[in-house]
Amino acid sequence: MKKKVLLMGASGSGKTSMRSLIFSNNPASSTARLGATIDVEQNHVRFLGDLILNLWDCGGQDAFMDSYLTTQRSTIFQHVGVMIYVFDAETREMNKDLEYYRDCLDSLTQYSPEAAVFLLVHKMDLVQEPKTTMFEKKREEVQKASGDVIITVFGTSIYDESLYRAWSSIVHTLIPNAAVLNKHLNIVAAACSATEVILFERTTFLVIATSTASSSLPASASTTSSPSSISSPTYTSSPPSPLDPHQMHPKRYERTSELIKAFKWSCSRVREEFHSLELDMYDFTAVLDEMTRNTYVMVVVHDPTIETAAIRLNIRMARKKFE
Ligand code: GTP
Repeated sequence: MKKKVLLMGASGSGKTSMRSLIFSNNPASSTARLGATIDVEQNHVRFLGDLILNLWDCGGQDAFMDSYLTTQRSTIFQHVGVMIYVFDAETREMNKDLEYYRDCLDSLTQYSPEAAVFLLVHKMDLVQEPKTTMFEKKREEVQKASGDVIITVFGTSIYDESLYRAWSSIVHTLIPNAAVLNKHLNIVAAACSATEVILFERTTFLVIATSTASSSLPASASTTSSPSSISSPTYTSSPPSPLDPHQMHPKRYERTSELIKAFKWSCSRVREEFHSLELDMYDFTAVLDEMTRNTYVMVVVHDPTIETAAIRLNIRMARKKFE
């Protein structure tokens, strides 16, 4: 199954940078060297078994935008699963950006009325005024420009986990059997007496599903049924709390992904392939192991009487359900 994802927005708003971070695992510092995208750059990313993301990074210079909205209109906007529209938080041309956005939205609703729309207020790290106030202002502005179309807005930056969080949510909505995955993870969690079980995509380490579905991904907010409900800004940070069964760290997925990706990278530097990991901490144990060809699973257990060998066995037994 192929899902077309349009990545649009003004030139320099940060589209190619986020693609480079999320899908090629490049560091944020390397994005300063990126040149402007000429026309559309297409990428195919095999995500889960048979789910392929067909990512269209649409260069944002005016001449290209004008062409997407005229001669290339049907090619660009048909068969779209998701449109991600990126706004530079510090843009000096918000009116122009909104005008292009409205035109793109009109084309999208004409050619792909079922497509989900995500808006990213990006480069939040550059915002000087209180970030939440500024985000709220932008959110209202883009909501107004969207009319009756259901949208989900995130505040993001390549310099913290907000970008990863937003993309996890977006990708989560593209997974056709997400509810089934949640159910299976719940069964694994019960079998392992686990506090939580998390499924990660193999290359990007984006969170695909978790056993604690209701409290986990902000994706639940994106499946909104009313135009007025937009997800809360992921940019505003909650105070850190220890990882325990009752009060889990709000950024635990993002931090875990970051650490594992760094570890995988270190392994590749010494030409060692990364397969699995066991963490034995003071008050919990975590086992990370391959689930399928495209996923890793992490099982977090707070019960010291549970052996990691038993967790691994449960993972092995569960594999068939996830393939
Ligand atoms: P076009 O290809 O012309 O459409 O531009 P683009 O939207 O792909 O922009 P690109 O990704 O090339 O980024 C432009 C610049 O923004 C680069 O110098 C990035 O380093 C910078 N940038 C991207 N994301 C962020 C961010 O979150 N914060 C800050 N401060 N800079 C960012």
